[in-house]
Amino acid sequence: MASRILVTGALGQIGTELVDALRKRHGVDAIIASDVREIEDHPVMSSGPFHLLSVLDEDEMRRLVVDNQIGTIYHLAAILSATGEANPELCEKVNVGGTKVVLECAREHNLRVFAPSSIAVYGPDCPSIAPQVTPLNPTTVYGETKVVGEQLAVYYWMNHGVDVRGLRYPGLISYKAPAGGGTTDYAVEIFHAALEDGEYTCFVREDTRLPMMYMDDAIRATLDLMDAPADSLGDARGGYNIAGCSFIAGELVTSIQRHLPDFTCTFEPDIRQTYADSWPDEIEDDVARREWQWSPAFDLDAMVDAMFAGLGANLD
Ligand SMILES: NC(=O)c1ccc[n+]([C@@H]2O[C@H](COP(=O)([O-])OP(=O)(O)OC[C@H]3O[C@@H](n4cnc5c(N)ncnc54)[C@H](O)[C@@H]3O)[C@@H](O)[C@H]2O)c1
Repeated sequence: MASRILVTGALGQIGTELVDALRKRHGVDAIIASDVREIEDHPVMSSGPFHLLSVLDEDEMRRLVVDNQIGTIYHLAAILSATGEANPELCEKVNVGGTKVVLECAREHNLRVFAPSSIAVYGPDCPSIAPQVTPLNPTTVYGETKVVGEQLAVYYWMNHGVDVRGLRYPGLISYKAPAGGGTTDYAVEIFHAALEDGEYTCFVREDTRLPMMYMDDAIRATLDLMDAPADSLGDARGGYNIAGCSFIAGELVTSIQRHLPDFTCTFEPDIRQTYADSWPDEIEDDVARREWQWSPAFDLDAMVDAMFAGLGANLD
């Protein structure tokens, strides 16, 4: 039986850590990493099989799936919010077009798929604490592509029996790879600036509250969702809400100052403030907790402590 795993967009912020977790779990040779680019000395490329693959190249994706006996695809390739709003055509092409290619391939070859969504599916009409089920009216192209991705996932599940699962990731905070051009990147950049310069200019207002999550929680949520028995999952399978920790940018600064008392942050909002303002403050994740026992481990201070421990270890 085909049991190997293909990861698309594997050199990004999530792929860097998910590939490592999957290789530890299933063995190095069982995980085929891929991306549209190569990065010299990237741990994902040096630690196991890697192929150059654009998710828009349907024939090459099919060939990789058949030649490597792939049974599951973790589809991470995408253009994120800030980059996507600057290049909406590319965003739609990669995010919607790439997801269609993956799902068609999954239908033809009976694959399981993980396809992440985002808190960007919500728009300004959403309650400030976002429920699992509420109208999805995003005002960004990126958010629209994520809504379509969730709809495609549910369509392929209902009409073709493809076992597709997704999470609405909050802003993800990690130290092993740079953030990939999203609106919540400030919550990653701020740590590097604090350590290197002692100061940071934040591109959202001090009182901006957004749902965030430490990467370890996000990886665990991903693996737990994919481990869950199919019959425990309901209508939210295209994009489960998962909450980590929600904080305003000013609270992040205060928590960082526990480690670096002289750290200063100024706030100069740019266009990304508009995207942040269109998203909810917090996420309600009762459905994920009920259906596959989701529970986060990192609150704001625990996440900040883990970031400093990780970055400190890297700087030694
Ligand atoms: N990081 C977050 O905070 C966050 C939050 C919500 C949702 N997500 C979602 O999680 C997924 C992964 O995000 P990430 O943070 O790792 O993004 P990232 O930007 O760090 O990585 C995405 C990767 O996709 C690759 N890529 C772009 N176009 C491609 C193509 N045509 N073919 C193959 N690869 C291509 C890029 O080279 C990059 O390595 C995306 O679907 C994203 O929307 C991320």
